[in-house]
Amino acid sequence: MLKRLTRALVFAPFACVHSTFVVIGKRDSAPPGFSLIGSPPADDVLTLRLALAQSNIQGLQDAVYDISTPGGSRYGQYLTQAQVDEYVVPSAETLDQVNTWLAASNLKASPLNSAGDWISVGMTVAQANSLLAADFSTFQIAGTNKTVIRTLSYSLPSALQKSIHWIHPTISFPNSNRPAALSRIKNTSSVTSARPQMVSLSANCQGLSSWNPACLQELYGIPSTSPNPAAPAAHVFGVSGFSNDFTNERDLRTFLETYRPDINPNTTFDFLSVDDGINNQLPADAGEDGNSNIQYAIALATGVPVTFVSTGTLPNALLTEMLDEANYLLSLEQPPQTLLNTAFVGVESEVFEGVIYTPQMAISLCNAYAQLAARGVSLIVPTGVFGSGGIPALPGCLPYDPPFPATCPFVTAVGGTEFDATQNQTEETPLKTSGGGFSSLFARPKYQDAAVPAWLAATNNTHSTAFNVSGRAIPDLSAISMLDFIFEQRLFNFSQTPQFSAAIFASMVALLNSERIAAGKPGLGFLNPLIYQHGDAFKDFTTGSITGCNSGGFNATAGWDPVSGFGSPSYPKLLKIIQDL
Ligand SMILES: *[C@@H]1O[C@H](CO)[C@@H](O)[C@H](O)[C@H]1NC(C)=O
Ligand SMILES: *[C@@H]1O[C@H](CO)[C@@H](O)[C@H](O)[C@H]1NC(C)=O
Ligand SMILES: *[C@@H]1O[C@H](CO)[C@@H](O)[C@H](O)[C@H]1NC(C)=O
Ligand SMILES: *[C@@H]1O[C@H](CO)[C@@H](O)[C@H](O)[C@H]1NC(C)=O
Ligand SMILES: *[C@@H]1O[C@H](CO)[C@@H](O)[C@H](O)[C@H]1NC(C)=O
Ligand SMILES: *[C@@H]1O[C@H](CO)[C@@H](O)[C@H](O)[C@H]1NC(C)=O
Ligand SMILES: *[C@@H]1O[C@H](CO)[C@@H](O)[C@H](O)[C@H]1NC(C)=O
Ligand SMILES: *[C@@H]1O[C@H](CO)[C@@H](O)[C@H](O)[C@H]1NC(C)=O
Repeated sequence: MLKRLTRALVFAPFACVHSTFVVIGKRDSAPPGFSLIGSPPADDVLTLRLALAQSNIQGLQDAVYDISTPGGSRYGQYLTQAQVDEYVVPSAETLDQVNTWLAASNLKASPLNSAGDWISVGMTVAQANSLLAADFSTFQIAGTNKTVIRTLSYSLPSALQKSIHWIHPTISFPNSNRPAALSRIKNTSSVTSARPQMVSLSANCQGLSSWNPACLQELYGIPSTSPNPAAPAAHVFGVSGFSNDFTNERDLRTFLETYRPDINPNTTFDFLSVDDGINNQLPADAGEDGNSNIQYAIALATGVPVTFVSTGTLPNALLTEMLDEANYLLSLEQPPQTLLNTAFVGVESEVFEGVIYTPQMAISLCNAYAQLAARGVSLIVPTGVFGSGGIPALPGCLPYDPPFPATCPFVTAVGGTEFDATQNQTEETPLKTSGGGFSSLFARPKYQDAAVPAWLAATNNTHSTAFNVSGRAIPDLSAISMLDFIFEQRLFNFSQTPQFSAAIFASMVALLNSERIAAGKPGLGFLNPLIYQHGDAFKDFTTGSITGCNSGGFNATAGWDPVSGFGSPSYPKLLKIIQDL
């Protein structure tokens, strides 16, 4: 494909595209934390990245369902990247149009991946301002001397609108204002006795407000031994880190000494760097996500090799960090069979209003996740902490506003539960603030064609005008959202965060994938078709609810619901199912 692109570039005839400009993306102002300091020199060179129209996304999606649906003739027959590329390579017409447009300004593109649907073009600020009807300016990040060059609006000739979906960096700014970790976590106090008895758990796991590996092993039946001790490297569990969210090795060791005294405390992780991502070991630079995700991945997925994938920040925005990570993993001969991504891009309304990302950017990332699914990757993401509604702090917070990328149909979206003795809970229950609902961006995938209409019927379609009932619905399942972890050598707990739920479930999937590979079978790949065939492998919650700003929220019902999906996972039940496949 690289050849095809190059040839088109060289032989494209000189031509002018005479057409009107169409705005592709715009925002009213820079996000908080960035201030306009002026215009960059007109001859400064920008490296722009262009997402081109992919030729056959429907074909890719059909292939993903064929190879991910148990019982189908192609189940488990994952594709090579060359096979995937046949679906995503731009059409000859798209390439011609783009190359002709660039050649008219003496510009040339270089492909950034093997399919050539993601390309890079260097051009001066003056050329970019004129080609894109933009106003590229310099913005300073508050409290630093770092600057980024962005525009608040950009356009394309209307004739190119179908061929070029979006361009970066333009309107999306880096994730500069990550809240300081300590502002969100509290020291734990020691566990006190005299709390209510929690159903069917040993004495060690009574009275908890926050969970640990041993008690999660009990609660969900997770084994404490490796399913594949002979060939551990046959399967890799990837844990993603974005926006400088690092993981500290000394904290990991303390965590293992405290919570997994039965395994080698020297157990650590491999490291992959994307876009010059690092894993700084300065204690204060550890991230709460980076630390807790790695600590649970290694403590729960016993014996599975874990790789921390760190993606660099500048000149990225969070969504393009994720896209770069996906493209990088797709370029590997064997991507990690299990992948955890707990970063939160935003709620869909932010995508729609173009405040942060255009809808097409979210669709591009979801298409990249479909490619990972085609390669046999089980990708697990959390549903966020905003319940059924949008982000309360945003003006005009929308009543039903689900989080992205959880709404992408090719990820497994995990919501949160709680089980807190300090609240006198004796049973696991759905977390009120766990994200759930219906996408306005992605249509309902066919694996939900039984579960979701059943829920709609059970609730008499009472909400059918409040949200788009034909959208992809989340979550798929739920798990405990309150965990103990080590941060700067101290024990913390951090409650009610479905990011933990995703880490727990991803660790269980890593063990299941290891079981499959130890048995000489392919990994499980994209999980949702399997999950929706086996809703009874999960503990159903029929009470509890989620709420959100300006909305009535959702109540739990029997079977799948937008509160907790199918409920919380049982490892023994899932193991039995995957052994029979
Ligand atoms: C920015 O640069 C100035 C001059 O080099 C320096 O004095 C200042 O400490 C820098 N500020 C930060 C936040 O790095
Ligand atoms: C946590 O406890 C340590 C001592 O164990 C103390 O130094 C620190 O200030 C506490 N942090 C918070 C956020 O309370
Ligand atoms: C977790 O932190 C909360 C808030 O600081 C505290 O009330 C609770 O007791 C802690 N849980 C455990 C198990 O220490
Ligand atoms: C862990 O590493 C240390 C230092 O390399 C070594 O002394 C110790 O024996 C190791 N522990 C185990 C259980 O392998
Ligand atoms: C839990 O139960 C005890 C004993 O009945 C009661 O004193 C306490 O207030 C209850 N706590 C909560 C959070 O409901
Ligand atoms: C509802 O979702 C479907 C599928 O994504 C879409 O085609 C349709 O336009 C949406 N309708 C509204 C009113 O948003
Ligand atoms: C739906 O309608 C049926 C029949 O009228 C009724 O029995 C049921 O309680 C209703 N369910 C809800 C959630 O309103
Ligand atoms: C959820 O249940 C409560 C109590 O039965 C009811 O008042 C509320 O209207 C229900 N909410 C929805 C969205 O159905």
